[in-house]
Amino acid sequence: MPRTEFHVETGCANGLIGKGVHMPNKIQFNSQYPCIDCSDEYWARAAGLIPAGTQTLAKGPGQYVNGVAPKYLQSGKGSHVWDVDGNEYIDLVMAVGPISLGYQYPAVDDAIKQQLACGISFSLMHPLEVEVAELVRGCIPSAEMVRFSKTGCDVTSAAVRLARAYTNRERVLCCGYHGWHDWYIGVTDRNDGVPEATRALTSTFVYNNLASILDSIDEQTACVILEPVAFTLPEADFLHHLRELCDEHGALLIFDEMWTGFRLALGGAQQHFGVRADLACYSKAIANGMPLSVLAGRSDVMELCEKDVFFFTTFGGETLSLAAAKATIIELCDKRVPEFLAFQGNKLKRGYTVIAEGLDMDYTKCSGPDCRTTITFDPGAGDPLELKSLMQQELIKRGILWAGFHNLCYSHSDEDIDYILSAYEDVLPIVKSAVESRDIKSYLLGQPVEPVFRTSTPSKPRMASRAADGNRAN
Ligand SMILES: Cc1ncc(COP(=O)(O)O)c(C=O)c1O
Repeated sequence: MPRTEFHVETGCANGLIGKGVHMPNKIQFNSQYPCIDCSDEYWARAAGLIPAGTQTLAKGPGQYVNGVAPKYLQSGKGSHVWDVDGNEYIDLVMAVGPISLGYQYPAVDDAIKQQLACGISFSLMHPLEVEVAELVRGCIPSAEMVRFSKTGCDVTSAAVRLARAYTNRERVLCCGYHGWHDWYIGVTDRNDGVPEATRALTSTFVYNNLASILDSIDEQTACVILEPVAFTLPEADFLHHLRELCDEHGALLIFDEMWTGFRLALGGAQQHFGVRADLACYSKAIANGMPLSVLAGRSDVMELCEKDVFFFTTFGGETLSLAAAKATIIELCDKRVPEFLAFQGNKLKRGYTVIAEGLDMDYTKCSGPDCRTTITFDPGAGDPLELKSLMQQELIKRGILWAGFHNLCYSHSDEDIDYILSAYEDVLPIVKSAVESRDIKSYLLGQPVEPVFRTSTPSKPRMASRAADGNRAN
């Protein structure tokens, strides 16, 4: 029923925070799971009001043990966050990527405040557009020209449109997640509303599997777009061979560097692996939490944005985000942040491996590039989602916000890393006994997490000729 009076509630109606009804948990081996009453109250208010409850799938309750994990965060400082019930955690998610330096990082926040004092959005262009574009060009090997937008899928979609215009072809091959727009989401199983004609133009391929690309690439392929590395490292010069393959077939190579940009190296995967993409897309780490995305690449392709390819948006030059990006990039360079992330991440990876091996738990691994590693469980040991849920539940009790991966920022201190490893030492024996009981569910105090949303697997080669033959392989 619609409300008849204007009524906005803020805060938690039960007023738990600060009233001493429950002592909020801290980053320690707490005796209790955190009180999440305020979180649940907000969640109840969102029901029937916000479809899916969340604006970002990875932040929604599907990725956290419902009944145990907090649902809403209130604040953050450095590498720590506080939920709406006042519980404190070391954050290993960092806003699903954007926080590269830390919450409330002084150099960035000061830059935002200084810009705020001058204005946010203007009626003409702002010098920051030029200054940040120059900084980006200085960091990224192939960034001959640079454009800004707000979201990751803005720039992946612009890259695909540019590739289509440049090659005068329409087919797209992709691998990984690239955003919510039609050209990509059509290949997933959540593609209602995407016209069939659009779906037919995009195919997926399997990472590290050149044969799956050869199976699909043809004279109608405008581009191959991929996350150059997610958690599986490229094998047998995969990225170099892909570069060659694209050249042979006249298709553009687009790197979606949303996760790798400014983290794996300042110049992202292109710099790290020594492979040049024609176009590359960035967001997340570049502005320490402010919404900015970047499209960069070969000038003969990017120049099409001068006129024939339309890519303009009201907030593309919004200055708080550009000021944040300028301060963030300078800090990332000065402090050599990518090296720091790799160093801390490697300590976590090695530490986890040693603990798991010491407990004879060969069914769990920590893998991926050092700056962003993931914990996986072999299905032979039990349902990986239940095991992930149990690990998350127990880490949350110990004051660690964990979604199955280690996404570090410059504020993750040695103390944080040591504490996380000590929590793994405490929690992994619980996971082991759950595996041995063959009843992992009985260890869970809430609903297990759902699978992470990725491209529907396996690959779906959809060559135009095969589709016309009715032999579409999906
Ligand atoms: C690799 C990759 N590409 C594209 C996107 C889409 O970015 P956005 O959600 O900002 O549109 C994401 C989002 O998580 C991503 O991880």
